[in-house]
Amino acid sequence: MEQYAEGFAQAYDEHWSPYPTRAAEQLLRLHQALDPNAERRLLDIGCGTGIVAAQFQQAGYEVTGLDVSEAMLRRARVRLGDSAVLVHGDATDFAVAEPFPLAVSTYDIPNHLGSMERIGLYLECAFRAVRPGGVFAFDVATRKALLGINAIQVRETEESILLYRGALNEEAGYGFYRISGAVRASDGRYDRFATTITNSVVPLGQVADALMQVGWRDTYLAAPADLLTPLAGDQIAAAEQLHRVYFVARR
Ligand SMILES: C[S@@+](CC[C@H](N)C(=O)[O-])C[C@H]1O[C@@H](n2cnc3c(N)ncnc32)[C@H](O)[C@@H]1O
Repeated sequence: MEQYAEGFAQAYDEHWSPYPTRAAEQLLRLHQALDPNAERRLLDIGCGTGIVAAQFQQAGYEVTGLDVSEAMLRRARVRLGDSAVLVHGDATDFAVAEPFPLAVSTYDIPNHLGSMERIGLYLECAFRAVRPGGVFAFDVATRKALLGINAIQVRETEESILLYRGALNEEAGYGFYRISGAVRASDGRYDRFATTITNSVVPLGQVADALMQVGWRDTYLAAPADLLTPLAGDQIAAAEQLHRVYFVARR
């Protein structure tokens, strides 16, 4: 079954938009601070429905989004219009024609990749897609956040009814959640959907090492609410106390 299928993409915008909306504000601030004179071009890896890219677009950036889900990309097209470049592709196997001054990747893309090997390929693809001196910022959900997968939740609004069931095998570091329900269509009827999304615990120290091996430099970890301030002390240990952490790197 396709992850991030049609009905879920609609429910995503309704229920999961606050985090990417805040992320975009922080990422814009980060880019303006780190590289104020950079060309305004953004690559969003795992762009989903385009919530982050839309805020960059409003700030004058030309945006390119890449995602593996066609349903998410269809919503991104509606949100971003014809001027956006939207690519159906895999974050671990893509190339761009002209490298970007900034690449971002938000809401747990490495957790969806399933192995350190694939995370390494993702970091390499991003490296080739960013021009020398450019910036790459991506977040990772920590083990602490993934413990929250173990839950059953029901959410009901005028637009949708969602049933969320998740389970994490802590020892294996692997979890999944199944979200099923119904979303209101434009004619007022409700369309049913069901999607299963997998998530793995990501070893943060290994990601830091892999970034260095690929050639990224000046890497630091930061809390989502303040991307300009590196975590103090042992950054990996500090990151494990958070639910989500950003890696910020220069090419
Ligand atoms: C939680 S959503 C985040 C979307 C967007 N970045 C945001 O912040 O709103 C995760 C997205 O990652 C995409 N994704 C998962 N695995 C991927 C892969 N291997 N390559 C590209 N996109 C992927 C999914 O299709 C989904 O749109």
